Amino acid sequence: MLDTRQLTGKQRLLIQQLQPQQTIESLQQFCRQRAIDFNFAKGFLLSGVIDDWVQLQALSETAWVLTDKGEALQGRLPGSNLVDKLQRGVSEVSQLQMLLGQTFSLAYGALRKAGAIDMQGSEGEKEIVVLDAEKLSTYQQRQASFAAIAQGAASPDTYPDVHLDWLQQQGYIAEKTATDYRLTISPRLAQLDLQPLVTALTSELLLSEQWREVELKSYNIHDPVPDIAYGRPTILTQCIQQIRDIFLNMGFDEMSGFLVETAFWNFDALFTPQDHPAREMQDTFYLSQPQQLPLPEDAALIEGIQRAHEDNYGGSWTTEVASRAILRAHTTSSTARRLYALRGRDGKYFSIDKVFRNETVDRTHLAEFHQIEGVVVGELLSVRTLMGYLTYFYERLGFKDLKFKPTYNPYTEPSLEVYAYHAPSQRYLEVGNSGLFRPEMLGSLGCGEKATIAWGLGLERIAMLLYEVEKLSDLAGPDMRLQGPL
Ligand code: PHE
Repeated sequence: MLDTRQLTGKQRLLIQQLQPQQTIESLQQFCRQRAIDFNFAKGFLLSGVIDDWVQLQALSETAWVLTDKGEALQGRLPGSNLVDKLQRGVSEVSQLQMLLGQTFSLAYGALRKAGAIDMQGSEGEKEIVVLDAEKLSTYQQRQASFAAIAQGAASPDTYPDVHLDWLQQQGYIAEKTATDYRLTISPRLAQLDLQPLVTALTSELLLSEQWREVELKSYNIHDPVPDIAYGRPTILTQCIQQIRDIFLNMGFDEMSGFLVETAFWNFDALFTPQDHPAREMQDTFYLSQPQQLPLPEDAALIEGIQRAHEDNYGGSWTTEVASRAILRAHTTSSTARRLYALRGRDGKYFSIDKVFRNETVDRTHLAEFHQIEGVVVGELLSVRTLMGYLTYFYERLGFKDLKFKPTYNPYTEPSLEVYAYHAPSQRYLEVGNSGLFRPEMLGSLGCGEKATIAWGLGLERIAMLLYEVEKLSDLAGPDMRLQGPL
């Protein structure tokens, strides 16, 4: 017995349309009249599901259709336009050439080959002569048959066989056999109960217990569903992972710090004067709660930093300003903490962390972004070592062409800005800043004067270049279409 709940909506509809019928002479025609997809109807009827009610008898019907070669003629046999003109009495070659343009020579060739026409006369006064008028009219009849087939009048009985043979020999038309079916429908089909399907189980259906009677639509778990790429790491996360791997493979350890930081670790420990413009509210986010955070308990450290500032910058350095709570403006605060912990021991550290700046947000600036911080303490380090590390790192990411430009930071000397070539915009973009820490800073952190190289690179800039993203803000947010090379 047929379980009508298994039927799809489309299949029910077809059955409903078959129910009132007894016989259907042509399924093709039946479908055409009701805008039913013939292949769907045929497939369903052949599937056997309703074999008990509907009998199929295969019929085949032959029709003429144009071949690709025939289609290319766009409804006109080569030569038929020339026949038209000749039959209207135009015979001068120069005039025919004007009327028929480029198609003239093709048409002439075709008819001449058939022995229907020829050319006479001397240069400038050439004329077409008709050798066989009968052949010309045959040609026109072929054209009529061809045009009729092109327009879809397909029944072979309509045309004299001779023309069809010729058109077929030329490869312009072909016979196509279309399959059709004759249907005999049992009166019992009309008794099949096809109640409308209930697609949603509502609380009313449950409370009234009607759910027991209604026909519930069954789930189709085989239909393809949209491919939603959920649960994928964001581009930035992918970049962070790749960069982390590069540094770990270079023997670096990962360090971390604090998002909320004291001005002390963000500025003072980095030999940045207390009246430096970077500390102003336009550039740095100050917390109102708490406004201050405790400074390290190491009195010698505080004293050393105070001395370094007062000796070099003059004026007075206050713990008041140093203890202001801020959102860290760079991850070099983590580096300062790490150097203080190392006190001159060797080491290689990196971090990839978020920083905050009170910037005007635009295409290439955000108020919060990530920095790739790195610091190396060791023997025989120089500007060349620094450039070597950076070149190697960017090369691993695929940036071959780097430029370094001198710059100024309160805590490094020399200081180098790093630029990478951005092929799509054909220019160099600033991707980072770096340098060798100043002895004034290293000394006050208890690191002696050991050469220490360090850098802070922009993560979003790298991602922008790698993924050819136009606006930094496109890197964050819900757009899941961004898929890069990683
Ligand atoms: N802190 C610097 C910046 O935010 C980068 C930097 C880090 C420069 C370490 C030199 C040394 O641009």
